[in-house]
Amino acid sequence: MTSFDELESNVRYYCRRWPAVFASSSGSTITDEDGVEYLDFFAGAGALSFGHNNPLFVEVAVEHLRSGRLLHSLDTFTPEKRHFLDTLQRTILGPRQLDMVVQTVGPTGATAVEAALQLAQRITGHRAVLGFEGGYHGMSYRAASISASMAGRATSAHLRDFVALPYVQHVTDADVELLEATLRQPVNGQPIGVVIIEPTQGEGGARAFDPAYLAAIRRITRDLGILVIADEIQAGVGRTGPFFSFEGSQLDPDIICVSKSISGLGLPMAINLVRRNLDTWNPGEFSGTFRGNNLAFATSATMLTNYWSDSTLEKNTEQFGQTVRTALESMTAAFGAGRFNVRGNGLLCGLAVGDTDLAAAISRHAFERRLIVETCGPGDTIVKLLTPLVIEPEQLDEGLARLALAVEQATSGR
Ligand SMILES: Cc1ncc(COP(=O)(O)O)c(C=O)c1O
Repeated sequence: MTSFDELESNVRYYCRRWPAVFASSSGSTITDEDGVEYLDFFAGAGALSFGHNNPLFVEVAVEHLRSGRLLHSLDTFTPEKRHFLDTLQRTILGPRQLDMVVQTVGPTGATAVEAALQLAQRITGHRAVLGFEGGYHGMSYRAASISASMAGRATSAHLRDFVALPYVQHVTDADVELLEATLRQPVNGQPIGVVIIEPTQGEGGARAFDPAYLAAIRRITRDLGILVIADEIQAGVGRTGPFFSFEGSQLDPDIICVSKSISGLGLPMAINLVRRNLDTWNPGEFSGTFRGNNLAFATSATMLTNYWSDSTLEKNTEQFGQTVRTALESMTAAFGAGRFNVRGNGLLCGLAVGDTDLAAAISRHAFERRLIVETCGPGDTIVKLLTPLVIEPEQLDEGLARLALAVEQATSGR
């Protein structure tokens, strides 16, 4: 029996998918303690969009540690936080004309969601929340309660003042009518105060909402005095190409939750961007010990400067995304028997195979071929690809070739 079996909780999960002991990592690869190298097409569930141990950020982190700078600072002022705020303003908020302030919320995405919901409730005075089928917002009680994709995961968590509408790929008049009728209808006696949406769903199956539906959400919520939270925790920071996955739509959110890849290096960090006039918190009203991760501020500022001062990364992600989709379409044509389809935007892509066991078998066979891919979506029927955005083209091709072999193996004899 290993230490893991003996001493770690039964709740452990990813290690069951990928039963290796990972010892080192670089860029798009992870190496286990026996020296076997894997291509990582999951990238820390999206926290490693800039690759493992990206040398740019390692350099900054090592220098930070060596020079005796603050690591932890609650939310006191530090040079690293100032530099991070200024850089975010210069590279992201300013160019997008977003008049928003930054709330440091704690280390996890779920904390960002909690803070966003609390602020929305505080502003509107209404507790009820509208979300969407397939939405995933984290494992804390309230975040799990508004995650319609949680079935089978956190069965105890559910709020009574929550309602979920279906995912909308191509909007119809009926979708907009249902949206408006639902927003006007109290839930369990509580008026709806906020809509939370992942403009591109991750766990829900690598799928983007129709931008016209996002525009309808904004138009109707504005009329009704309801706030909009965009959960960009998985799809943001360039995962789908642009910094925010809703860019180009008229969603114009009131609060944006950002986490996962925001530190660049994969350090725990989450922030909410809050429309300036809605920043009505009292000092200390939402607090927490780990809201001053200066190492993460330092690496994040470097990430923003290096990757978001121009559109090179965004264009590259769109091109890589095209390569992934073309490969997934070939797999669909070769092995899908009319049942597969391809999902996603940029490098948040999925191969929907319509069968839980088949998706699991593909992930398993991929691992046997030293490729890490996870499943997601309803019943875990979608093979999800979250490659690092900075992957080398040859590694992308190699990983897709391994995936094709895994799909072929999993489908043969079915
Ligand atoms: C869209 C979205 N929101 C929230 C979360 C929760 O983030 P965390 O796991 O850091 O709490 C996740 C995590 O996968 C996510 O994908």
